[in-house]
Amino acid sequence: MSTPRPQDVISAAYTGVNEIDVEIRHAREMLGRVRDLREQVESRIASDGNRNLLPACSQKLDDILSKLLNYLCQHCMDEEELMHFYGFNSLHPSLYAIHVEDHADITQKLAVLIGNNIDTPTVTLLEEVDAFIEDWFTEHIPSHDYVFAKTVR
Ligand SMILES: [Fe+2]
Repeated sequence: MSTPRPQDVISAAYTGVNEIDVEIRHAREMLGRVRDLREQVESRIASDGNRNLLPACSQKLDDILSKLLNYLCQHCMDEEELMHFYGFNSLHPSLYAIHVEDHADITQKLAVLIGNNIDTPTVTLLEEVDAFIEDWFTEHIPSHDYVFAKTVR
């Protein structure tokens, strides 16, 4: 069996639990915004070769990054609350602990990306944020969110 492509994983990422799927849809919209901006930046670089351009794109990226970090923090808190609501934390304490730990890891990873923002060229930062969100879909959601959702459905 072949490994599914990341874009297929991303478009198929639903858990069957409405509260989680609403948030997954939102994350997918954010990935779309990052990829649109990345396309704009790359076509601009291709047309005038200027990697230092982009104050407007950089501004948009700052806006996306701050929304993404707020969203990710809120998403993790909401999901952890939901796990308590369904008793996942007491029924599966180690799965719950691992899931919460991964929330902390991914949130920290994003905070580091944003913290390095000033020193990172826009085009590189866009690639890194794109990869970060893609990892969220291909790693965190299948390994943790699906596991929790399976116990709720
Ligand atoms: Fe999660």
